[in-house]
Amino acid sequence: MSDTLLVTGAAGQLGRAVIRHLLTTLNIPAARIIATTRKPEQLQDFAAQGVAVRAADFDAPETLAAAFAGANRMLLISTDKLDRPGYRAEQHGRAIAAAEQAGIGHVIYTSMPKPDNSPLLISPDHALTEQALRDSRLSGWTVLRHHWYFENLFASLPHILGSGRWFTADEGGASADIARDDLARAAATVLASGGGGKTVHTLSGAQALTKVEMARILSAATGKPIEVVQVPLEGLIQGMVGAGLPRPVAEVFASFDTNTAQGRVAEVTGDYQAITGVAPQSFAGWVQAVKAAFA
Ligand SMILES: NC(=O)c1ccc[n+]([C@@H]2O[C@H](COP(=O)([O-])OP(=O)(O)OC[C@H]3O[C@@H](n4cnc5c(N)ncnc54)[C@H](OP(=O)(O)O)[C@@H]3O)[C@@H](O)[C@H]2O)c1
Repeated sequence: MSDTLLVTGAAGQLGRAVIRHLLTTLNIPAARIIATTRKPEQLQDFAAQGVAVRAADFDAPETLAAAFAGANRMLLISTDKLDRPGYRAEQHGRAIAAAEQAGIGHVIYTSMPKPDNSPLLISPDHALTEQALRDSRLSGWTVLRHHWYFENLFASLPHILGSGRWFTADEGGASADIARDDLARAAATVLASGGGGKTVHTLSGAQALTKVEMARILSAATGKPIEVVQVPLEGLIQGMVGAGLPRPVAEVFASFDTNTAQGRVAEVTGDYQAITGVAPQSFAGWVQAVKAAFA
């Protein structure tokens, strides 16, 4: 197999981990890898190993033809503008159009679980991007519906551990989260697989846990008590606004809890293991591995 493999957004945390898995877990020669990014200067370590690092910005479509030239398969990593619902779908649409123009045969996209008709305010970007793939002239594509990263906890954990209280409006719903590095491994595996077709996989962790169950594991690892406090959705939004978040951003964050309350991230699938051949890390194992960072 001699496909040239391209990863967009390669300077992001997921993108870097995908390149690392291509090089080390899957032993793909660096000469077969193209890393595109808005920040080529941040990928000098990969460039030194022989990865082709190219500048690409979905907001500057004129950069994409040269950046995508010569690639056979592309991992399209979703962008990060969460405060402008709809904008990411436009960015991804430009990337898909440029992939078609460049003659890329297969595009893999990082989506979310159950993006259609979701109460999550960022879901339309993913649903529209999946639709753009279905509407495209690409000969093949793979949608990887990523469950939420364990790592998302790093944003809220300092406050939770400091106050001993974890406010939520998820009504006790469970969430089958997964380590970001596992998602990177799965994406690298699909990218390098040479597989065609038009398929959707949902990549969950090994178990669905409620916040009470997660809090128990976090407390055991840190020695700090955590009380999960259910509040009404509006109360959660007001709390975030009071802490300084603009209301539209607070509404986006709070909509994650509505999504969880509706059971939309509770499904445990076997797709990760089917793709990679290994089990995903457990939440408890991940906490043990990273708990020094919680201090
Ligand atoms: N499942 C989850 O729990 C979860 C959590 C957070 C985020 N996400 C999604 O997954 C993506 C990757 O996660 P991450 O942890 O790697 O996030 P991150 O470190 O914040 O990376 C942001 C990503 O967006 C790319 N990007 C932003 N603007 C772009 C543009 N104009 N053109 C091309 N690429 C652009 C960045 O590429 P460069 O910097 O290399 O240009 C980078 O890959 C995020 O962007 C977001 O869509 C999912």
